[in-house]
Amino acid sequence: MNSAARLSALSLAAIVLLTPFLRAQAPPAPPAAAPATPPALYLGTAWYPEQWPESQWDADLSLMEAAHIRFVRVGEFAWSNLEPSEGHYDLDWLARSIRAAERHHIAVVIGTPSAAPPAWLTTKYPETLRIKEDGRRDEHGNRQQFNWANPKYRELARAMAEQLAKRFGHDPNVIGWQIDNEYASESFGPAEQAQFQQWLKARYGTLDNLNNKWTTAYWSETYSDWSQIPIETTYGNPGLLLSWKRFVSDTWRSYQKNQLDVIRANSDHRQFITTNMMGFFDGYDHYTVSQDLDLASWDDYVGTGQLNPIYNGAAHDLTRGFLRKNFWVMETQPGFVNWSPDNNSLDKGAVRAMAWHDVGHGADAVSYWQWRSDLNGQEEYHGTLVGADGTPVPLYAEVAHLGADFAKAGPALAGTTVHSDVAILHSYDAFWAIDWQRHNHAFDPLAAMVAYYGAIRALTHSVDVVNPSVDLSQYKLVIAPALNLITDQQAKNLIDYVHSGGHLVLTQRSAMKTIDNALQPQRQPGPLVPLLGGRVDQFYALDTTIPISGAWGSGPTNTWAELLSTSNPETKVLMRYGKTPLGWLDDQPAAITRKIGNGSITYIGANLEGDTLANAAKWMVADANLHPEFGTLPPGVDLYIRSDAHHQVWILINFGDTPQTITLPSAFEDVLADASKATTHSVTLNRFDVVVLQRPIH
Ligand code: GAL
Repeated sequence: MNSAARLSALSLAAIVLLTPFLRAQAPPAPPAAAPATPPALYLGTAWYPEQWPESQWDADLSLMEAAHIRFVRVGEFAWSNLEPSEGHYDLDWLARSIRAAERHHIAVVIGTPSAAPPAWLTTKYPETLRIKEDGRRDEHGNRQQFNWANPKYRELARAMAEQLAKRFGHDPNVIGWQIDNEYASESFGPAEQAQFQQWLKARYGTLDNLNNKWTTAYWSETYSDWSQIPIETTYGNPGLLLSWKRFVSDTWRSYQKNQLDVIRANSDHRQFITTNMMGFFDGYDHYTVSQDLDLASWDDYVGTGQLNPIYNGAAHDLTRGFLRKNFWVMETQPGFVNWSPDNNSLDKGAVRAMAWHDVGHGADAVSYWQWRSDLNGQEEYHGTLVGADGTPVPLYAEVAHLGADFAKAGPALAGTTVHSDVAILHSYDAFWAIDWQRHNHAFDPLAAMVAYYGAIRALTHSVDVVNPSVDLSQYKLVIAPALNLITDQQAKNLIDYVHSGGHLVLTQRSAMKTIDNALQPQRQPGPLVPLLGGRVDQFYALDTTIPISGAWGSGPTNTWAELLSTSNPETKVLMRYGKTPLGWLDDQPAAITRKIGNGSITYIGANLEGDTLANAAKWMVADANLHPEFGTLPPGVDLYIRSDAHHQVWILINFGDTPQTITLPSAFEDVLADASKATTHSVTLNRFDVVVLQRPIH
């Protein structure tokens, strides 16, 4: 029996022995005087005490404690229990569950319950239900049926949050707050349309200005009254489409702030406020919504299949970029989900490896959704750590192993974060702008971003994903994949970056649109043309593969091709298209570059893949004068580096099928090794093996 399984057997025995006493227990003790020191790495789970008899809570919590689970998230769908009828709040059960968790050294994150309004509320105030895009009103029985813009809903959600904050805002065992759950669904009714029109008035000032910025002379779209402006989400005027998305984002922000302000006013500063986001979900601009939060967090689900460390890693780095600091994985799958077409389980060992991959990218907490199978409800089939019977499922032992890892490695990782020399730029505006007008259905802006991300990460083992508006001076290399829409401020930011010695790479479709999703008045890359000393003469959606060759070798390109030209003798051609029946691209430049002082600007007009992409990445790293200490890793092996001023932590994981031995560039202490302070110069990793190493920085 391995140590984790032994642990779970022992804890089960303890529960069996203790349960009669736990049931008979007296009312919970008042809160302890001072909050316990939080662990550097938090293992957590979503727990729904309202679904279970109180007599079972201690058994659940004992099993959690035995697995080193150090926090539970509670409450986020419990409105009907917290306010059973209007204005009648019942928070005592929640207080008792918080005290029960505390007895097991388990801290609490409270979720405000606004993602699931109670039936009395939506019956009495039907206007709080969202109107779907087809005009039908949503109804009770699911969740997220609320209207995010409705003043009455906000009033009721705020009152609920206020009650919670007043009661638990100074509770030593409450460490933070999650507002709502996975913002996603808007409302499309007449009241929201009127709000949108008011929002447009505030943004554009006059109808003349709006008509001008949206070129409404096209198709007689000119508006003579604000009330004429519709809501469009797919095939409207590009300025209208983008404005609706911006309105949606601002409205989620104010929806969140409505609860956040009342929590902040009634809680200790040490309690963080977050919301759980969804990786690459792009229903709203996450940079807009996260700016009021203390902590970014997201729900990391693989769904069908197995983890793709590059794609998932990019989503982690995106989340780390929202507030440019470490983040939490607020939910992740205990093996499998219930909502995919095929809800296969992650392979044995993958759940632990995935959690370490999360930490490597800057997560300070990993939390499983959910602890125990619901007896009834829409998610009966979802993966959990214990069954509906309250006893562990097979995965429990793997998570307990992870919990022991976290306890052991926490001190090494405390205060560390990811430091990158390379940034990939990401903008919701740019993604949306392409998605509404793909021009070639196969052009996926996310795939374009992840391709460059993966190629660079393989060389540098660390990449930041940030918005083009942020200060870029810390980066040696900045890549803007498909940065289709660029504001004047962002263009200036990029130009200043290159003039200060930065190395900027723009790829296909970049800098084509303005802040209003109109075409730039110059060819691509718009305001960057003078700096580049070149431009895009024409773009072509490709239906065949065509050859490219040059400094990055030769290979095929497809989907999209831009014919480039140079206007400055300093601008050099790096790659050219070969001959094809299309004709227009024959022997024409496909990638160009110009040195500017110590910096450079490069434009790539072809879709790179395979060797040409890998070679381009090597060229970019060399051009930016980057010399990563560690070379290319064996296939399947990933390296993550976190550090503070004094030491570095390296996490190595083998996601591949073949065992690999890696020789380290210096001696490291193996943090998880049994013998303390074990020093090592090389590691051998079987599939899903994880090593956590540290060394001082001199
Ligand atoms: C998340 C959601 C959870 C649960 C989970 C199941 O999106 O926040 O409440 O439904 O999915 O995978």
